[in-house]
Amino acid sequence: MIDFKLVPKVAFDEMNRVHAEEVELLNTLEKYLDAKDREGIEKTLDEMLEHTRGHFANEERLMREVNFPPYMMHKSEHDRVLNEFQFVVMDWRNHKDDAMLRNYFLETIPEWLTQHIASMDTMTAQFICMHKGC
Ligand SMILES: [Fe+2]
Ligand SMILES: [Fe+2]
Repeated sequence: MIDFKLVPKVAFDEMNRVHAEEVELLNTLEKYLDAKDREGIEKTLDEMLEHTRGHFANEERLMREVNFPPYMMHKSEHDRVLNEFQFVVMDWRNHKDDAMLRNYFLETIPEWLTQHIASMDTMTAQFICMHKGC
C-alpha cells in the first residue's frame, strides 16, 4: 500500500488531488491482486487508464496555458509512461501474469510517480503558481 502522506506535494493543489486519486487507484489494484479478483483487477485497470489519461492531459493543458518552457520534456515523459502502461495491461490481458502486473504497478509505477512528482510536477506547479497564483 502506498501512503499518500509520503508522496511529495506540489504548490498547485489541484494537482495534489489528482495524485491522491492515482494513489487510491493503485492501492485498490493491490487489494484486488491480493484477492486474485480478476474482475476487480480488470475494472481497476480500466479506471486507472482513464484516470492517468486525464491526469496527464490536465497537466499538459495547464502547462500550455502558462507557456511552460520545458513543456515537451514533461509531456514526452507522460507519453512514454502512458505507452508503457498500455503495453503492460495488454500483455497481462494476453498472458495473465499477475507477478508482472504486480511488479509494474506496485513497484515501478509508485517509484516513478514519486520521482516524477518530486521533479517535473514540482517545477510545473511552481511555474503555474507564478502565473496563475495559488
Ligand atoms: Fe502529475
Ligand atoms: Fe506530470
